[in-house]
Amino acid sequence: MTMKKKYTVGILGATGLVGREMIKTLLERKFPVAKWVPLASARSAGTVVSVGKQHLPVQIAEPEAFKGIDFLFSSAGGNVSKALVPAAVEQGCIVIDNTSAFRMQDWVPLVVPEVNAEALRNHKGLIANPNCSTAQLVVVLKPLHDAFGIKRIVCSTYQAVSGAGNKAIEELYTQSEQVLSGQPALPQVLPYPIAFNVIPFIGDFEPNGYTNEEMKMTHEVAKIMGEAIPTTATCVRVPVANGHSESVNIEFSRPVSPQEARLVLQEAPLITIRDDRQLRHFPYPLDVSGTDSVYVGRIREDVSHPHGLNLWIVADNLRKGAALNAVQIAEKMVEMGLV
Ligand SMILES: NC(=O)c1ccc[n+]([C@@H]2O[C@H](COP(=O)([O-])OP(=O)(O)OC[C@H]3O[C@@H](n4cnc5c(N)ncnc54)[C@H](OP(=O)(O)O)[C@@H]3O)[C@@H](O)[C@H]2O)c1
Repeated sequence: MTMKKKYTVGILGATGLVGREMIKTLLERKFPVAKWVPLASARSAGTVVSVGKQHLPVQIAEPEAFKGIDFLFSSAGGNVSKALVPAAVEQGCIVIDNTSAFRMQDWVPLVVPEVNAEALRNHKGLIANPNCSTAQLVVVLKPLHDAFGIKRIVCSTYQAVSGAGNKAIEELYTQSEQVLSGQPALPQVLPYPIAFNVIPFIGDFEPNGYTNEEMKMTHEVAKIMGEAIPTTATCVRVPVANGHSESVNIEFSRPVSPQEARLVLQEAPLITIRDDRQLRHFPYPLDVSGTDSVYVGRIREDVSHPHGLNLWIVADNLRKGAALNAVQIAEKMVEMGLV
């Protein structure tokens, strides 16, 4: 009789939004965990995180703490990953990193299992999870590209504040109260007031005028899709607590009708189509928050180009954009015998 192997699982950033979603997702999907190791900064050392019915003390994330960990899910920011992930890999952990620290390094697979699971085969102990807005986008691009050939992508994002962590959600609520009580909204985490506003940039500016968040989409789409499909993005922060939305214009190599696209998308993994004009039943971030699917709606012809289509894509950035994708990577590695 064969026993299913169980793994020691470390969560680096266990007190954060993504870390907590990671624990929830691993439990929901019954990932075979023998032992949990929650890790965070010295600020949280000794505090407790809930893992189902267990309440486990948080340990300080330092190289010695990685000993014996099989899978390390890392989401404590890019600088923490740069400082600590190499030590974890050296100690034999398989690290699935949610930050941007290593995504574009040639030796690191950048994986969305519905798109490029095969890239896991040559892993060297470190696998990168893409940026949240890239993950939901490529789930939709892949089946359309396979069926029709994509020539160019224009994407505008409407990104929730949860994408900037715990403190950004608190900031949205605090600022909303400030505005409603006639006080000025004071930004501390996000660069501008977000309550009753939108912020037309995310991250830092690059010399070409794009932000690094926007260029991540260009580079990561190319790496995951395995070819440099020209992609241009405008990334915008909106006063939504959770759930990233995207308005996407796709140019194909031939005319593609909305109905043809719908038929392909409804057969594709993880995608749910919500596109009922009569009932106004479309993907809304309020509805999709807390669910796994990538939702597609507003599928329509591009009246400005005979080969174009417009789509509206929404997903929970903490699920497919972070925790779910990371857990799927671990599951896939076990399934493919790569552990
Ligand atoms: N939110 C999203 O939708 C999303 C999606 C994909 C990727 N990501 C990436 O995931 C990372 C975390 O995001 P988040 O939303 O979970 O942020 P968050 O809610 O602010 O949580 C940050 C976590 O990192 C820990 N941390 C901070 N500094 C540390 C240090 N020096 N050593 C060890 N742990 C440290 C924090 O622990 P303490 O409690 O001790 O401070 C906390 O557990 C970011 O790199 C982000 O870009 C986020």
